[in-house]
Amino acid sequence: MNILILGSGGREHSLAWAVMQNPKCDKLIVAPGNAGIAQIATCAALEIEDGGEVVAFCEDNAIDFVIIGPEAPLAAGVADRLREGGFLVFGPSAAAARLEASKSFTKEICDAANAPTAAYGHFTDADAARAHVRARGAPIVVKADGLAAGKGVIVAMTEAEALAAVDDMFGGAFGGAGAEVVIEEYMDGEEASFFVLCDGETVLPIGTAQDHKRVGEGDTGPNTGGMGAYSPAPVMTDEITEKALNEIVRPTMTEMARRDMPYQGVLYVGLMIKDGQPRLVEYNVRFGDPECQVLMMRLGAQAMDLMHAAAEGRLHEAQVHWADDHAMTVVMAAQGYPGSYQKGDVIGGLDALPETSAQMCFHAGTGRHDGRFVATGGRVLNLTARGDTLAEARRRAYEMADAIDWPGGFYRDDIGWRAL
Ligand code: AMP
Ligand code: GLY
Repeated sequence: MNILILGSGGREHSLAWAVMQNPKCDKLIVAPGNAGIAQIATCAALEIEDGGEVVAFCEDNAIDFVIIGPEAPLAAGVADRLREGGFLVFGPSAAAARLEASKSFTKEICDAANAPTAAYGHFTDADAARAHVRARGAPIVVKADGLAAGKGVIVAMTEAEALAAVDDMFGGAFGGAGAEVVIEEYMDGEEASFFVLCDGETVLPIGTAQDHKRVGEGDTGPNTGGMGAYSPAPVMTDEITEKALNEIVRPTMTEMARRDMPYQGVLYVGLMIKDGQPRLVEYNVRFGDPECQVLMMRLGAQAMDLMHAAAEGRLHEAQVHWADDHAMTVVMAAQGYPGSYQKGDVIGGLDALPETSAQMCFHAGTGRHDGRFVATGGRVLNLTARGDTLAEARRRAYEMADAIDWPGGFYRDDIGWRAL
């Protein structure tokens, strides 16, 4: 099979790495890719949110199967254009991608499916939103309805903070994404991410993970896209997993099918767990980044067969071959991230790193300059390792982090602390 992966981050590097190990892959192109991906696959410059351009590229390159990494092309309808063009694709339609692209849509689906989640109000004007905040009091959570690159959620510990968030959102701080606002009850508990593949009918769990969103050790400081992750998540016991499937995921999939928008792709189920009860925090319509990196490290080549089965509507006959293992990824970022940071630093030591089924450095934001690797983003490298225990995975991941020569980079020293 000739395979095209859309995206350019560590998530896509790990997807490419898993796909490349599968003998069914004849040729792999990643668009646009990055300098790490270019070591294992062909990278192609492509405007990945332009469905017409992606379809034309697939025709020119005899592509058999497209895997869409990030949410933006999904929300823009690239999967729909590809299916209309006769291509097999892993990823939901624009209609189904609203499970991530619109928080109020997700809440409406949860209501219809009777899925446990935070109580909420949906507002299109600032006065009504402010009145709601005053009536409910803090803590309370204010969310821009649309896609805001992970920045549109304010967990407000005081009423003043919540009111300021309402003003910011209706004032245009998040552009069109904040024209509508969802205000939610604050949930406490332990968070976990649960990943399932769906083909419109069948739901297949493929793993759990926990990530570290805060930039600083001890989970302090500003929010980031994720500074590290590990899998499995100990809080996701068999009992909680069954509850999440039966009370949240399956009813959601049934409701989506009933509305003629069957969901096909990976569903990232963000959960808050308290007193043995999971409640939905959010859905994402793609793999998490960096959660994908630990899932791919654990699944390896079978990940491609599973995604292919989802795209072909064959998940009822698919099986996950689990290993009793653990994986961890440590994110190396540029000093200053998630604020402003420098680009262009040379990164040394990469060529000497191990590249095995238990230790891989996935690139998230790198380029090549004069034959050397340079940092081109905020999150730059994902040191990802597997082991029989989480402690072993951790040792192997940090062994790689320590071997990298990049004075302008930093990483958290405590990834996995809750589980260890
Ligand atoms: P989201 O983009 O919806 O996942 O929100 C980002 C983060 O905000 C989540 O991972 C949670 O840590 C937090 N969060 C979102 N909604 C709530 C809620 N209702 N109660 C408590 N924390 C929340
Ligand atoms: N790591 C969180 C996300 O991908 O949304």
